[in-house]
Formats: sequence, structure tokens, C-alpha cells
Amino acid sequence: MKRTLIIILVSTSIVFVVGQAFGAGATFKLLAPAEEMFTSQSRVLIIAVIEGETDAKRVEILDNGKTAGYAELKNNTMVYVATLSKGKHELVLAASGVRRRSIRVFFGKQDDYNYHVKLEPDYCETCHSQASRGIYKGAFSQTGLCAECHDPVDRGKFVHGPVAVGACTPCHDPHGSRNENYLVTASRQLCLNCHSQSVSQNHTENRRNANCVECHDPHSSEEAYLLR
Ligand code: HEC
Ligand code: HEC
Ligand code: HEC
Ligand code: HEC
Ligand code: HEC
Repeated sequence: MKRTLIIILVSTSIVFVVGQAFGAGATFKLLAPAEEMFTSQSRVLIIAVIEGETDAKRVEILDNGKTAGYAELKNNTMVYVATLSKGKHELVLAASGVRRRSIRVFFGKQDDYNYHVKLEPDYCETCHSQASRGIYKGAFSQTGLCAECHDPVDRGKFVHGPVAVGACTPCHDPHGSRNENYLVTASRQLCLNCHSQSVSQNHTENRRNANCVECHDPHSSEEAYLLR
């Protein structure tokens, strides 16, 4: 009996110590850029939010193992612009109690990730009026926000479900993306995220796996079934 109890106590404390050392579960959620990217720009904007408990005040950014700088944490959110030399870089985000996160960047002639945001200090405020205070969550209408710079997409007689409820971000990443039109995933897979595989599979197999948006407008249409 006694021995079992000791084993249990010892093993729980090992788990506890190991848990502490590895940051007990707090993680970086990377909003920009992609985890791996090719870029032709020397500057890389990083936006990340820490999910989970942490008392960290700042994040250290390492570039190929060396400290490149620090980003202040406001409401567990960090923004940082790294300036890189040509070639391969592993950027690592490190903060006490948080699991490290790495971003692999190749700075050369190609781009496979593009920012929708401009890399200017005050640009965040065009969409997040309280950005200077580190507040990015906001009950703003995406339809209204996006329409400040783009033609409204909800004017057809038939409006697609997500657009009708004012949601653009299930499909578009507002900060940047590796896909055309800043889509969160490549176009065809995007539709399958919400439309059941079985229904859509029949539907596309009948149509030789054509891309959904060749026939359907993703936003709104004058025709039923959002046909173009
Ligand atoms: C073109 C408009 C636009 C610009 C510019 C923009 N954002 Fe955003 N951002 C959004 C939208 C829309 C969302 C909400 C995404 C959602 O709800 O899925 C968002 C969400 C966020 C979030 C997540 C908030 C949360 O829910 O925790 C953070 C953090 C953030 N943005 C940071 C930034 C930073 C930093 C900048 C400047 C470098 C920036 N944004 C510039 C549109 C923008
Ligand atoms: C402050 C102005 C501004 C706001 C607000 C804005 N955009 Fe943009 N957006 C641009 C500019 C400028 C471009 C063209 C240059 C580029 O691709 O970055 C663009 C490009 C795009 C593109 C690529 C296709 C194209 O027309 O070039 C998409 C898709 C897009 N934005 C979606 C959105 C969505 C969704 C929102 C709302 C969450 C939004 N934008 C809010 C300025 C804005
Ligand atoms: C169901 C996914 C989906 C939703 C939701 C969505 N879009 Fe799109 N959007 C697309 C796709 C796919 C494209 C690619 C172009 C195409 O095929 O029409 C696109 C293209 C665009 C473009 C580029 C110009 C154009 O029309 O071709 C803009 C701007 C845009 N969307 C804005 C918005 C805004 C603003 C919202 C929210 C009100 C929104 N989108 C919601 C999927 C979506
Ligand atoms: C974020 C979830 C979501 C995504 C992503 C999405 N849809 Fe939808 N779609 C809906 C909802 C919700 C409805 C409305 C409910 C319904 O009729 O099933 C709908 C309805 C439809 C309809 C039927 C409209 C009608 O008049 O009956 C078509 C066609 C459609 N979507 C095509 C697409 C295509 C093409 C894409 C990819 C560009 C796509 N959807 C991506 C959620 C989504
Ligand atoms: C070649 C044109 C074409 C392509 C490609 C296509 N559709 Fe359709 N879709 C239609 C037509 C036409 C309808 C009207 C109803 C019908 O004839 O089946 C329709 C109806 C729908 C509907 C509503 C009815 C239902 O079955 O629920 C959804 C949702 C839909 N399509 C989603 C998709 C998705 C997702 C893709 C891509 C995986 C896609 N469609 C590709 C032409 C197309």
C-alpha cells in the first residue's frame, strides 16, 4: 500500500515538474504569417496571441538561434516586425511558461505568402480602433468594415449563408495568406469545410471535380443556388 502511494506521489510530482518546464500548455496562436513561407520582402510581420495562462510580459524573438528583439505583450497579444538578411531563417517565439513556436522563412525572390495588412506602424488601427491599447477583439461588422475599401459583396438577390450573417473570415484571412484572394484554404477545400463531403463529392464528381466557384458565386447572386 505504502509503496504504491509513494510511487503515485513521486510520479505526480514528476508530471508537475515536467509540466512546469514545458510551459504547462500555454501556446502561441499564430495569426500572421504562415508557419512556413517564401518571401521577397526583408520585413516579416508577426502577429500572435498566447492561449492559456501566462504571466509573461514580453516575447523574445530569436532568429536562427540568436536574439533578434523583444515584443511587448498586451492582453497576451504580440506584434513584431523582424528584418531579415537574404536566405533561410528560423524565427522562434519564446516567452516564459509558453510552448515555443517556430516560423520558417525563406527570404529570396519568391513570395508564397502575402500580407493584406500594410507593414506600417499605425495600419492595424484602420480595422482595430483600439489597437494602440492592445485590444483587437471587437464587435465590429465585417460587412461594414470590408466595404470601407471593397465593393459590397452582399447585394445579390440570394446571399450566401456566411455573408448573410456578416462573416467574411470563415473564408478570408484579414491579415494575410498563402492563397489567392487571402483565402484561408485553397478555394475548393474551402467549400468542403462547410458543405458535407458526401453531398459535395457526388456533386463535384458529376462535374469532373471542377472548382466550385466556376459555377457558384461565393458571396451572392441573382440566380438561385448562387449560380453565376
Ligand atoms: C483589413 C482589416 C484588418 C487589419 C488592417 C488588421 N486586422 Fe486584425 N482582425 C481583423 C478581423 C476582421 C479580425 C477578426 C477575425 C475573426 O473574428 O475571425 C481580426 C482579428 C485580429 C486579432 C484576434 C483578436 C481575437 O479574437 O483575439 C488580432 C490579435 C489582430 N486581429 C491583430 C491585428 C494586428 C496586430 C494588426 C496590424 C498589424 C491587424 N490585426 C490589422 C481585421 C484586420
Ligand atoms: C483599409 C482598406 C481595406 C480594408 C478595410 C479591407 N481591405 Fe481588403 N484590400 C485592400 C487593398 C488595398 C487590397 C489590394 C492590395 C492587396 O492585395 O493587398 C485588398 C485586397 C483584398 C483582397 C484580394 C482581392 C482584391 O480585391 O485585390 C481580398 C479578398 C480582400 N482584400 C478582402 C478583404 C476583407 C474580407 C476585408 C474585411 C475583413 C477587407 N478586405 C478589408 C484594402 C482593404
Ligand atoms: C464562403 C466563402 C467566402 C465568404 C464567406 C466570403 N468570401 Fe470573399 N471570396 C471568396 C472566394 C472563393 C473568392 C475568390 C474569387 C471568386 O471566385 O469569386 C472571394 C473573393 C473576394 C474578393 C475579391 C474580389 C472578387 O469579388 O472576386 C473580395 C474583395 C471579397 N471576396 C470580399 C469578401 C467580403 C467583404 C466578405 C464578407 C462580407 C467575403 N468576401 C466573404 C469566398 C468567400
Ligand atoms: C462557413 C461555412 C460555409 C462555407 C465555408 C461555405 N458555405 Fe455555402 N453555405 C453555408 C450556409 C450556412 C448556407 C445556407 C444554408 C443552406 O442552404 O445549406 C450555404 C449555402 C450554400 C449554397 C446553397 C444556396 C441556396 O440558394 O440554396 C451553395 C450553392 C453554396 N453554399 C456554395 C458554397 C461554395 C461554392 C462555397 C465555397 C466557395 C461555400 N458554399 C462555402 C455555409 C458555408
Ligand atoms: C459545373 C457547375 C457546378 C460546379 C462545379 C459545382 N456546382 Fe454546386 N450546383 C450547381 C447547380 C447547377 C446547382 C443547382 C442544383 C442542382 O442542379 O443540383 C448546384 C447546387 C449546389 C448546392 C445546393 C444544393 C445541394 O445539393 O445542397 C450546394 C450546397 C452546392 N451546389 C455546392 C457546391 C460545392 C461545394 C461545389 C464544389 C465542391 C460545387 N457546388 C460545384 C452547379 C455546380
